[in-house]
Amino acid sequence: AGKEIHYFDRTDSTNIQARLAGEAGASHGTLAVAEIQDGGRGRRGRNWISPAGVGVWMSLLLRPEISPVSASMLTLVMALAAQKGIKEATGIESQIKWPNDLVLNKKKICGILTEMGTEFMEIKYVVIGTGINVNQEEFPEELRKTATSLYLETGKKYHRSRIIERILEALEEYYGIFVKTEDMSALLEEYNEKLVNQGQEVCVLDPKGEYRGLCQGITKTGGLLVELSDGTVTEVISGEVSVRGV
Ligand code: BTN
Repeated sequence: AGKEIHYFDRTDSTNIQARLAGEAGASHGTLAVAEIQDGGRGRRGRNWISPAGVGVWMSLLLRPEISPVSASMLTLVMALAAQKGIKEATGIESQIKWPNDLVLNKKKICGILTEMGTEFMEIKYVVIGTGINVNQEEFPEELRKTATSLYLETGKKYHRSRIIERILEALEEYYGIFVKTEDMSALLEEYNEKLVNQGQEVCVLDPKGEYRGLCQGITKTGGLLVELSDGTVTEVISGEVSVRGV
């Protein structure tokens, strides 16, 4: 991964740039990286604040020959790779908050936004956008309770390029394992070990309402198993709900 790199001092969103590259025929493994994003995008239409020089703002273009259903699991594969890459570059052990955030001391340090380009029901390309809060010294008031940076949690500044390199290495490894089965079966155990809410009570919000249960980890298709108070186990499908610790 990261065979061809499109570097931007300043851009709207690296996800948009990687999509444009995808439409223009760029090859599997092309990476878009920016120093600053003016229109950084998060999941569910939110913004992603991406100031200059303090974060990793990057999007990887992949052309996997798999079904759209399997491709949606790539976001979990990236969560694993980002966790490992950050660990190897900085020594920091973050945790995964299902489906694809990384948290440190329960606050968010990394978010992932995966978008697909399809044609005739098949995957043309997948763009996996990853944002990591590395060296920020402060956050806007409204984010202080939920977001943090590696610097704020450890008092140290880190090399962003080293983090990127290690993440891409880890992704290459996990991607190779993932495409063999096109599901999470071989990565399940490792993912669940890193899951922040594993074995704990979680509150699930989905279109049908709000309920509590014990988090039992993901399935091989990437859903989250939650045991309800009556003992039944339900699988929450990614994208439909948000989970927060209670
Ligand atoms: C989220 O947690 O809501 C996902 C955040 C994803 C942010 C990254 S930063 C690089 C890439 N470009 C974007 O506009 N978004 C992603």
